[in-house]
Amino acid sequence: MYWLCYSVRGFRAIDESQAMPTVRILPDGLTVQIKAGTSLLASASAGGVELMHSCGGIGACTSCRVLILSGQDHLSVIGTAEHEQLRESGILDTHRLACQAMVFGNVVLERPLWRSSPDSPVTGD
Ligand code: FES
Repeated sequence: MYWLCYSVRGFRAIDESQAMPTVRILPDGLTVQIKAGTSLLASASAGGVELMHSCGGIGACTSCRVLILSGQDHLSVIGTAEHEQLRESGILDTHRLACQAMVFGNVVLERPLWRSSPDSPVTGD
């Protein structure tokens, strides 16, 4: 059975094995198998990793940004609003907004670690 999906490369057919792609989340070392078309934000949540999403997931901030280590071609096309947010932040070539990017194949990402206190060494980058 094949599914028709739209990603950065346009429409393409994916076979059943890609219909349940995996998202590997670093530095947690967690791998989540999700239904094709699920957002990176929902994928992380399904694995118990709550990514920050200050605007509620409407693409109006960059708090849900994640660094894509592999599988960029397996994500949905970057929309105008997401493109603008990433461009303004200078991370257009490396990051995606987890609330906007839908998964259509295996992806490996690194999530930011946010400060839990002003003295925390973690930067959120
Ligand atoms: S949660 Fe604000 S852009 Fe994703």
